[in-house]
Amino acid sequence: MKQTLKLVLLILLSTSNIYAQERPSWAKETAAQKEQRMAWWTDARFGMFIHWGLYSLPARHEWVQHNERTSAADYRKYFENFNPDLYNPKDWARKAREAGFKYVVITTKHHEGFCLWDTKYTDYKATNTPYGKDLIKPLVDAFRAEGLRIGFYYSLIDWHHPDFALDQIHPECPGIPGKYPFEADTTAMAKANEKRDMKKYQQYMKNQLTELLTNYGQIDELFLDFSYPPEKGRKDWDSEGLIKLVRQLQPQIIIDDRADLKDTDWGWDFKTPEQFMPQTWPELNGKRIPWETCQTFSGSWGYYRDEYSWKSVHQLVVMLVETVSKGGNLLLNVGPTARGLFDERADDRLAGLARWTSLHSRSIYGCTPAPPEFQVPQNCLLTYNPTTKRLYIHVLEWPFKSLHLKGYKGKIKYAQLLNDGSEIRYWTETEEESSMSETSGANDLILSLPVERPNVEVPVIELFLN
Ligand code: GLC
Repeated sequence: MKQTLKLVLLILLSTSNIYAQERPSWAKETAAQKEQRMAWWTDARFGMFIHWGLYSLPARHEWVQHNERTSAADYRKYFENFNPDLYNPKDWARKAREAGFKYVVITTKHHEGFCLWDTKYTDYKATNTPYGKDLIKPLVDAFRAEGLRIGFYYSLIDWHHPDFALDQIHPECPGIPGKYPFEADTTAMAKANEKRDMKKYQQYMKNQLTELLTNYGQIDELFLDFSYPPEKGRKDWDSEGLIKLVRQLQPQIIIDDRADLKDTDWGWDFKTPEQFMPQTWPELNGKRIPWETCQTFSGSWGYYRDEYSWKSVHQLVVMLVETVSKGGNLLLNVGPTARGLFDERADDRLAGLARWTSLHSRSIYGCTPAPPEFQVPQNCLLTYNPTTKRLYIHVLEWPFKSLHLKGYKGKIKYAQLLNDGSEIRYWTETEEESSMSETSGANDLILSLPVERPNVEVPVIELFLN
């Protein structure tokens, strides 16, 4: 009897919700269904982020309004002068496709509150600027025409909406006079907030998300950004209400983890390490979880004219490979200029990525970390395609003539360089030879590489597994 009780208790414990928040009745997807919903995204691996808004005019960070504590009145000049006369999303979409991106995520509204589409719920939108036209519809059409999936970034934070409660990061948060660096005057802030009603702001967000998720066809990713409890969190956004609405409107959509619902298994789909490379595939309760790292070309997300910390093409290719080698997606950002162009530094990086991905996409799409039995050779990164059973060795530092693969003997049937499909011969030492050798064992395999490094950013060796 005691035994049965123990067993029942054990079963109950193992099936009970490990998350702090109860799962609401509308969220009843199984783990297998979730995996299926996310399958295209997991395969795609590489998305283009686009941060574009009024901040592309000052061209000194998308947080410029906060950084410089600019009042709404002073910030207005960017709205009045917003006129991206050279905007041609077909051009962006072609470059994105050529660079190897499989989906795009565009800021429909950033923290500044300016809306790139023709929303009914505010005048603070592209159609009321000198440009006068909706920016989102032509972008969605252009990227779809190039075969990319569409994602929307939507800022939970809004420094323009009159009901959005002031807090420490709000550009108009009152400060203690004479204090430097800035210190919030919490009494003045509380007083000002008496007139602000977050309930109304919640409704505004719902209205806008309804527009975005109704008027532009299928939207594949939603990037809500971001929570900072205790100042602003799930209660302030009504996160549960938002997620419920979003899933009702677009049941297949994939949602990031920034609505402050990380302790649920229904309020987010993937983790979002920002400008950060995890050491290994991130886990939660012992299980690997989907993740997408968002990264910039130069540090800021919006166009920043005078930023000189641009990553090289090599760094970007390695970043993409490393992300896939750890089971993640890379969302790489471009910040277009106020004229509506990708600037020449961005174009240069995109062209470099295009050169590499056009030859090496097989080691990225549909790939994941190598099975643990395959040791990572020196100075290399591995990815693996479980469907085709091919293993990809990305050689970061080209060695002299041989690459030693520990314990690979008997596991492969063919090897080639991926950039030109040229055969790579390999050999193993006999037991006797290896007992005399200081470098390799009888189970190792030695690839015979050309002395000259293939002229690509990161050479890749494709191994056909047995
Ligand atoms: C941050 C920043 C923001 C950027 C975003 C991208 O939350 O506030 O400027 O849009 O990350 O992940």
